[in-house]
Amino acid sequence: MYLSGREPLMIRRAVYPGSFDPVTLGHIDIIERAAEIVDELIVGVLINKGKNPLFSVQERVNMLQIVTKDIPNIRVESFDGLLVDFLKLKDAEFVIRGLRAITDFEYELQMAQTNRIMSPDTDTIFLTTNLKYAYLNSTTVREVASYGGDISKFVPDFVAEAVMEKYSNH
Ligand code: PNS
Repeated sequence: MYLSGREPLMIRRAVYPGSFDPVTLGHIDIIERAAEIVDELIVGVLINKGKNPLFSVQERVNMLQIVTKDIPNIRVESFDGLLVDFLKLKDAEFVIRGLRAITDFEYELQMAQTNRIMSPDTDTIFLTTNLKYAYLNSTTVREVASYGGDISKFVPDFVAEAVMEKYSNH
């Protein structure tokens, strides 16, 4: 029985959106788990117009492509504008987001509800972050690295090198 009324043979496609500046082990954990739930996962890298990211959108896409290269049902793409428009463009019905701690909840709920008002067919699936990464975020990674701290427990080695290189040129 199909309670949702969705077509039984429809491909379940989701977008995992984010800034990924840079991608962390917490993001990778969510990506790997989400890829097992849906048929196709698009990792959507936001072209942050307002922010001044450490990595260009192309650099962020490249890093994500490297970390996801062994997972066949994942694509990495950049997007601009509203997430719900990107979902429509890609024919995706789900948004994937990670929930780390209760502090994430307010912001995430607001985004999910806003997206659902704008696009009633869009559902957000929240995955609870692995406890190991519960307090990890890209901002902290950048901050630790900017003071010369060790970020090797937070991001893949090649990402750590790329971050350190950015700060050594600052
Ligand atoms: O990794 P982040 O910075 O927490 O990701 C935030 C993101 C990219 C999911 C969010 O800012 C977003 O969806 N931006 C696109 C613009 C949009 O649709 N805004 C309305 C949602 S409230």
